[in-house]
Amino acid sequence: MPSINWHEFLMPYAQAVDELCGKFKSLDKEYRFKTLHSPIEHVQGRVKRVGSILEKARRKRVPVNKIVEGIRDIAGIRIICQFVEDIGAVVQIVRRHEGFDLRVLDEQDYITNAKPSGYRCYHIHVEYPIFTMDGMKKIPVEIQIRTMSMDFWATIEHSLKYKYNGKIPEALRGRLIHTAEAAFQLDKEMSTIRDEIIETQKVIRVKNDLADQILKKIQDLHSMVKTESINELNKEFYGIYNENDVAKLNAFNYKLDTMMRLYSTESFE
Ligand code: GTP
Ligand code: MG
Repeated sequence: MPSINWHEFLMPYAQAVDELCGKFKSLDKEYRFKTLHSPIEHVQGRVKRVGSILEKARRKRVPVNKIVEGIRDIAGIRIICQFVEDIGAVVQIVRRHEGFDLRVLDEQDYITNAKPSGYRCYHIHVEYPIFTMDGMKKIPVEIQIRTMSMDFWATIEHSLKYKYNGKIPEALRGRLIHTAEAAFQLDKEMSTIRDEIIETQKVIRVKNDLADQILKKIQDLHSMVKTESINELNKEFYGIYNENDVAKLNAFNYKLDTMMRLYSTESFE
């Protein structure tokens, strides 16, 4: 058996994972900033551990010198979404990157066609170029896209598979298939109230952003006005904040802007 310097072998995979995670996290930020809703809830990345690579190679009868071609999830990215609809949006994002950096090799839709275990997820295998000391290298990466509910199920099922050494008892298997369906039912029901949930999340975001701005302005006013006035402003802020009225918060924020303009001009003169 040829010996492998695993640390060196896995370095480019780690680089691909880091770069792709960074790209999806930036996209998530951009979506949140520009549209207030991101199809990406969060992004995870990992390089398969040597033990798992060897175990999978044995299970799939892949010789060690064929690991690069035979095991396609050494580099893995997982994108978790809130809603099933978001999965489609993320798939589109990945496809749009085609030719720009990554290349899509193939896709598996385990959402429309769940696996016999009950597993649901959208998989895309891509080839992602990284730049190393020796030049460009194309790294295979498995991108998994799933909802929080699918992720919950897969995590639990994975732990049980580990516990039972891959052979989950038949009765438990049946119950797991049942819970997979229940998890998917939850996703479907969440979809029916998706617009309302997204709208609420947007309002919360706007409200929190406004509160941050207001508190920063009150803080800055400390050096310009008397303590009693600061106490008054804080009291007024808490009152409005508890009313849950974004328009009132906006008006209060505007009032602080005016105060700050007034006091900073005064102190300048
Ligand atoms: P393995 O399932 O690892 O043998 O990979 P594969 O080459 O057969 O590809 P497949 O598309 O079946 O699975 C790829 C990856 O999806 C796995 O490594 C897991 O992360 C995940 N996966 C697939 N099936 C299941 C499942 O039944 N349960 C869980 N929890 N995860 C699964
Ligand atoms: Mg499999």
